[in-house]
Amino acid sequence: MNLSQSADAQISTPLIDNFRADVLNGLKSSPKRLFSKYFYDKEGDQLFQQIMQMPEYYLTACELDVFRNRTGEIAEAVFYKDSAFDLIELGAGDGMKSVYLLQYLVERETDFTYIPVDISGNILSVLNEELQNKMPELKVVPLEGEYFSMLDKAAGLSVRRKVVFFLGGNIGNMEIGEANNFCREVRRRLNPGDLFVIGFDLMKNPHTVLNAYNDAAGITAAFNLNLLSRMNNELDADFNLDQFQHYQTYDPVSGACRSYLVSLTAQVVRIGDEEIAFGENELIDMEVSQKFSPGQIMEMAKSAGFQIRSQIADSKNWFVDSVWQV
Ligand code: AVJ
Repeated sequence: MNLSQSADAQISTPLIDNFRADVLNGLKSSPKRLFSKYFYDKEGDQLFQQIMQMPEYYLTACELDVFRNRTGEIAEAVFYKDSAFDLIELGAGDGMKSVYLLQYLVERETDFTYIPVDISGNILSVLNEELQNKMPELKVVPLEGEYFSMLDKAAGLSVRRKVVFFLGGNIGNMEIGEANNFCREVRRRLNPGDLFVIGFDLMKNPHTVLNAYNDAAGITAAFNLNLLSRMNNELDADFNLDQFQHYQTYDPVSGACRSYLVSLTAQVVRIGDEEIAFGENELIDMEVSQKFSPGQIMEMAKSAGFQIRSQIADSKNWFVDSVWQV
């Protein structure tokens, strides 16, 4: 998928039509695929919050370790010029990690505006309410929508220097080539001196990675299957969730952790007035969660036109927040 294309399409078409078109396109392709960005309806947001609490899902704890225990270093990297700035967070979600940094900056009376961007308006209002309670003095401008149209919108809000956050390993949801394009597209929208801070999940013991996406309680399975429910609810589809099964793989050579849904029988599913046929054991490609080597990160920064200013890892060295500068 070309992310910038879907961002452009959104200008003239409402989100629901995008969703329908992406779904039908994806399920008519071979192999069948769906976009994981659609996981996050209200139910999906809740399931992802449960995933973040699971013992197997180490990513959140690792990045929390960085933001809680090395707040000063992150703040220093971000606030290096002592000048006012806009902090734009792409895919902010419930903002759990950023809160530590926001608090640190607010306590030091730093002049900045926090602009959380998310595709889920639901999670943005949860975040906004929590921030109002915790830090009434914080300036917050939430933006609901796709990354690039919202980044353009955020850029138009002020002429202050920009710091763009893309945390949580969200970049892993793109194939490597797409991630490279994505970084270049962010770079195009920034000015010299602006910063891009990306959270990368690092390669590690393959069992540790696989278990994080193949939990015993089946929450990740429910998270994947929920997209079928969402299609039933929003696109008038008739998926039978019992007839699909979650299957997870991790390839430690490429670092790609992938999830699929397997059709358990030959079946025909209706989506609005269209019909989609599934063979027995046919797969739907649902999500990639890419794991990175330090070398890959360096290469990605360079090829997108950034310099790495600093890298702040958790104590286990499983996850790194990499600070890039234009
Ligand atoms: C929110 C994209 C970081 O890929 O690790 C968690 C989503 N999918 N379990 C990830 C997810 C299955 C998550 N990100």
